[in-house]
Amino acid sequence: PQVTISHGNSRVTAALTTGESVEVLLFGATVLSWKDAAGDEKLWLSKNTNLDGSKGVRGGIPLVFPVFGPPQPNHAATSKLPQHGFVRTARWEFLGKSTSEGSSSSVKLDFGLSTDSIPESTKALWPYKFGLLYSVTLDRESLNTTLVITNDGDESFDCQMLLHTYFNVKNISTIQITGLEGSEYVDKVDGARTKTETSSPITFSSEADRVYTPIEGPKHPIVISDSGKTRFRISRDNLEQVVVWNPWVDKSQGMADFTPKDGYKNMVCVEAGSVAGWQKLDKGDTFEGAQTIYLC
Ligand code: BG6
Repeated sequence: PQVTISHGNSRVTAALTTGESVEVLLFGATVLSWKDAAGDEKLWLSKNTNLDGSKGVRGGIPLVFPVFGPPQPNHAATSKLPQHGFVRTARWEFLGKSTSEGSSSSVKLDFGLSTDSIPESTKALWPYKFGLLYSVTLDRESLNTTLVITNDGDESFDCQMLLHTYFNVKNISTIQITGLEGSEYVDKVDGARTKTETSSPITFSSEADRVYTPIEGPKHPIVISDSGKTRFRISRDNLEQVVVWNPWVDKSQGMADFTPKDGYKNMVCVEAGSVAGWQKLDKGDTFEGAQTIYLC
């Protein structure tokens, strides 16, 4: 038996012989689905999300680059871009797969996007020469997503990046997050005030939209548990921030592509990124950021 790969017009799927699988949409190189051997879905996906590149996917793992959040008027180079940048809607190229078989079986899918493959209208918004390589690696216990950003031009550029993971959970009211205790965060639902996390663990009973800079650094895992049982353990490489987002009742109502409307009970976004300042890449420089999500 072999790792199975199927490459359709707009999606790539891969399954290990033991049953774990991953599905990636070429628009945005968005991971849409990640299932364990029992077929349990680990990612949340809105029932009526757009999947045609007209908008970012509402669910899965959208990629945020080169700006996080709304365009920043005081940062001229990214001020014309849409919220979260342009790569989450761009059509990426599937570059191929590599596999390893046997007891530690795994599959790595590579995707690429560069200046040459984006429309002129997008280049007009952000005129820099870049190359992106995104690798999605599935093994029996984890999913790794790694983005490598290269400056292919002569001019330097500033960028931010983020892996906007929507985790599928049974009940947001019994979810607990650890690993952020004592960390500073920007509270986007309270006028972007800077605060220090005093809750241990973090729980949810209203809208949350916070940009943490974990005090422990990227190697210390962020853990999502449900009713005391560990569901996900997230480790980061080079990504200094973690965004925690749940839109709760009113924000979910306001998002046309968010279905069902009580779906906020079944999701929590924990997003690893480099978004507090800017990564400045000079000619030929690269920046690599990654997360690995473990199932226990
Ligand atoms: C989060 C932001 O990362 O993404 C939130 O912190 C935002 O402020 C959310 O609402 C969803 O963004 P979008 O553009 O996908 O609706």
